[in-house]
Amino acid sequence: MSLKKSLLKLADLTKEEIIKILDLADQFKFEFKNNVEFKPLKDKTLAMIFAKPSTRTRVSFETGIFQLGGHALVLGINDMQLGRGETIEDTAQVLSRMVDGIMIRTFAQQDVEDLDKYGTIPVINGLTDYCHPCQVLADLMTIREFLYELEGKKIAFLGSGNVCNSMIVGSEICGMDMVVSCPEKYKPDVDAKYNYTKNPHEAVENADVIVTDTWTSMGQESERAARIKEFTGYQVNDELMKTAPSHAIVQHCLPAHKGEEITESVFREHADEIYSEAENRLHAQKAVMAILMGEK
Ligand code: CP
Repeated sequence: MSLKKSLLKLADLTKEEIIKILDLADQFKFEFKNNVEFKPLKDKTLAMIFAKPSTRTRVSFETGIFQLGGHALVLGINDMQLGRGETIEDTAQVLSRMVDGIMIRTFAQQDVEDLDKYGTIPVINGLTDYCHPCQVLADLMTIREFLYELEGKKIAFLGSGNVCNSMIVGSEICGMDMVVSCPEKYKPDVDAKYNYTKNPHEAVENADVIVTDTWTSMGQESERAARIKEFTGYQVNDELMKTAPSHAIVQHCLPAHKGEEITESVFREHADEIYSEAENRLHAQKAVMAILMGEK
């Protein structure tokens, strides 16, 4: 499925489609900073389904559609019949007759794909266990903002998981060089090109962007103690940053667990890059919604 209808995963997009989203996101950011009103989604409604908690995704989508002239409904999965066994097919059919788009944060990627398959309105993936495309669009926007271009830049991702999977795909589409460093048993299983090293120092050598993420994602809480033990050598700390070039920026999708995947000291030094990344969720998702839900 292409961006013409939904955003289910980055692998569905071409480089031109990603650049179109990023260019529009830059324009929305400029307009936001200069109080320019633009309401292409006047009277449109976005249903936001959450099976997992969220701060950034919820606030950025709800604020974003409001700024574009529309309105959002926040639907906790356990407040819906979907949480009591109603099918994805019936949910997709009914929402398609009432609202103009669906954003869903859930566990299984297949549920997002099925909502899209059975519904007739755009579906936006707000995170699954497999990927987090909206996060990586904001990351690519931030990298371009701080380093001016994407092509040829080297990303070192310390860790693994859904953001890492989307970053691998996004970096390949955009012509970037991606290296992942994490314990061997957590090596990403994703159908895109990336390099791997067990040695985090080797990963950050010559890196333009250093990315980390929580070691324990939502739904993995029972594995927390074991994962902290296994990932402990992959912390982004001052010693690791000495190996990286001085111009390297640091990205973290948040929430951060300071003292685990990143130290307080590195976080503070790179706070503007990390908080800009969070802010860019708003602008990048406004671009996605305007393209998918606006007049064609
Ligand atoms: N990064 C991210 O998706 O943040 P939330 O979990 O707060 O939405």
